[in-house]
Amino acid sequence: MQNLPTAEVYEKEFRYMPWGILIHEIMDRIAEDVPQEGKVLDLLCGTGYLLSELKKRRPDISFVGVDMESEFIDFAMERYDSIEFKAADVLKWTDDRRFDAVLCTAGLHHLPYEMQDAFVGKVAGFVGEGGFAIIADPYIDDYADEIERKLASAKLGYEYLAATIRNGGTDDVIDAALTLIGNDIYTVEFKTSVAKNRPVFSRYFGKVEEHKTWPETDGGGYGDYYFILRR
Ligand SMILES: C[S@@+](CC[C@H](N)C(=O)[O-])C[C@H]1O[C@@H](n2cnc3c(N)ncnc32)[C@H](O)[C@@H]1O
Repeated sequence: MQNLPTAEVYEKEFRYMPWGILIHEIMDRIAEDVPQEGKVLDLLCGTGYLLSELKKRRPDISFVGVDMESEFIDFAMERYDSIEFKAADVLKWTDDRRFDAVLCTAGLHHLPYEMQDAFVGKVAGFVGEGGFAIIADPYIDDYADEIERKLASAKLGYEYLAATIRNGGTDDVIDAALTLIGNDIYTVEFKTSVAKNRPVFSRYFGKVEEHKTWPETDGGGYGDYYFILRR
């Protein structure tokens, strides 16, 4: 069970949750770094928000978005008809095309821990010659056991909720932030630490570039990160 908000609330989250900062930074990267007439794949694309905003800035790029939540894909297809959307499980979906950029934002932690390594390998397989991948996620502090994992999830959850309230978040978005805390503690979602993810990225990519967008503290601890990955 995914326990997701509605598509409308999901799109509002970008305004009030720290995640919006990261998404806008990634938009800039893609808009600047993908070649003319390039191809971009977004795995676990949600409601298509990122691709739709990018399409406005770079109409020359062909965008493909894949997500298994049919409500989100229906929402995206109704609004953004110049983008190719597929309703599919990314663990099973295959495509012969290779892409200039492959994105996965807030997606990795929706896959069970035991699937994440193979999924990063699958992302690498979709990256074409000279291309790159961007994998972005909210991370919890590193943990040694299940109690530490739950505590680290509660800490990230509290800080996310507090930031959402400070940003003037509406009650429906605050509710979504509250739901995230339970999702993380009870492993409906599968957030991990940067320390545990870095070696996975290094297994499939020769160059791993790390960026942190929230909070404004040193890297390594909890927060929103994106990794630019090149083979
Ligand atoms: C938090 S949303 C991220 C959406 C978007 N990428 C973003 O940055 O906001 C996670 C998405 O993963 C999707 N998802 C979870 N497991 C999936 C799977 N196995 N295959 C495809 N989509 C999946 C959910 O439907 C949901 O839309």
